[in-house]
Amino acid sequence: MPPKQSYYIIALPGDGIGPEVLSCALKVLNTAGYLSQIDFQVEEIPCGGHYYAAHETEWPEGSFDKCEQADAILLGAVGHEVDGKTVFTKPGKPYPEPQLAGFAQVILNRQKLGLYANVRPVRLYPGVKHKIHGELKQVWDAGKVDYVVIRENTEDAYTGETNSIPDGQVTPIRITRTATERVARYAFNLARRRRKLNKVTCVDKSNIIGAHRFFRDVFREVGAREFPDLALDYAYVDAFCQWQIRNPEWYDVVVGPNLVGDIISDNGATTAGGLGLAVGGNIGDEHAMFEPIHGSAPKHAGRDKANPLAAILAVQMMLDWLGTRYEDSRLHNAAQQVEAAVAALLSEGKTLTYDLIGAANASRCSEVGAAVEEKLRTMA
Ligand code: NAD
Ligand code: IPM
Ligand code: MN
Repeated sequence: MPPKQSYYIIALPGDGIGPEVLSCALKVLNTAGYLSQIDFQVEEIPCGGHYYAAHETEWPEGSFDKCEQADAILLGAVGHEVDGKTVFTKPGKPYPEPQLAGFAQVILNRQKLGLYANVRPVRLYPGVKHKIHGELKQVWDAGKVDYVVIRENTEDAYTGETNSIPDGQVTPIRITRTATERVARYAFNLARRRRKLNKVTCVDKSNIIGAHRFFRDVFREVGAREFPDLALDYAYVDAFCQWQIRNPEWYDVVVGPNLVGDIISDNGATTAGGLGLAVGGNIGDEHAMFEPIHGSAPKHAGRDKANPLAAILAVQMMLDWLGTRYEDSRLHNAAQQVEAAVAALLSEGKTLTYDLIGAANASRCSEVGAAVEEKLRTMA
C-alpha cells in the first residue's frame, strides 16, 4: 500500500507499569515522528483489569472497532491485582469471554484481529549486563544471542474455555491445521529473510500432548514441502529451556504453540537483559499490535522505576512493520533511528533503570525515556 499522510495509532496503556512505560514510548514516537516529519494520530484508550474493576467492562464501548480501524496498536500491559489476586470477571457478571476479564485487550485483539504470529526477538545488545543471583554481570556474548521466537498466537491453551469435571476442571488445548500452517510459514519465511543458520526449530511438548504432536507434524509437512532449502530442527520445551540458556547461538528462528512460546520467550529474555528489554509484535495479515512482553509488574507500579526500553523497542518494531506495509521509507528510517538510540544508551551504560544498572546508580523510567529522545535528537 502507498504511504499515508497520517498514521492512526491506538495506544492501550493498561494496568500497573503499563501506563508508565507506554507514556515514555509514546513520547519517543512523537519525537521520532517530528524528526522524520511523519504524522501520527495517537488515540489512548483506557483498559485492563483496573478499568474492569471500576466499570465492569473491559474498555469503553466502540474500542474494539477503533483497534480494527487503526494502522497499528501499541499495548502497555494488562493485569490488575487487588490484595495479591488478579481481577477476573465478577461472579454473576459474565463477560463474553468470562475467563479473560482484564486480559481482553491482549487475547481478544490477538484472536479477533487475526494476529496469528507473535514475533519475539531474543537479541542481546552490546554492553547489556544480566541480573543473575543478585549481581549484574555480562554472561552471554552479544553476537551469540540472536534468534526470534515465533509464538502461535490464537489457540493452544488460550481458548478461554474451562469445564468442570466432578473432581476439578479441564482446560482444553486446541491446535488446528490452519493456525499451525500459517504460523509455520511465517517462521520459515522469516528464516529465509534472516539468512543466519537457515534453520527453524519447532519447540513443543509433543512427547506427551497429542495436539502438540499434530503441531509438529504440520510443521514438518509445511517445511518439507514448501521450504526444502531450510533445515528442520526439533526440541521438547523442557530441554529447550536449558539449551536456550546454555547455547543460544544454536538458534535462528524458533516456533511453537502459544503457551510454549509464552514461556520460552520470557526464559530467553534472561539471556538478553531481562523482561525490561524484551519486545514482541503480534502480527497478522491486516493488523498488528506491539508490546513489551512483560506484564503489569504490580509491585513496581506508580514508582517511575520500570524499564521503558521494551516498550520503546515496541515503537521501533511498529515503525518497521508500518514501513513495510505502507512502503514508506521514512518509517523504516525512523525505526532504525529509534533502535540506534536505544543501542547507544545501552552501550554507554549510564542512564539505565535498576534492572540493568543496579539500584544505587539507577535512573528513573521517565529519565531513561527522555534520554532516548535526547539521543534521537542528537543523532538526527
Ligand atoms: P511481569 O512481567 O509483570 O513482572 C515480573 C517481574 O519482571 C517484575 O516483578 C520485575 O521484576 C520484572 N519486570 C517486568 N517488567 C519490567 C520492566 N519493564 N522493568 C523492570 N523489571 C521488569 O509478570 P507477573 O508479575 O508474573 O505478572 C503481573 C501481571 O501482568 C499479571 O496479572 C499477569 O497476568 C500480567 N501479564 C500481562 C502481560 C501483558 O499485558 N502482555 C504479559 C505478562 C503478564
Ligand atoms: C503475554 C502474557 C499473556 C499471555 C497474558 C497476560 C494473557 O503473558 O503476553 O506474554 O499469556 O499471552
Ligand atoms: Mn507472557
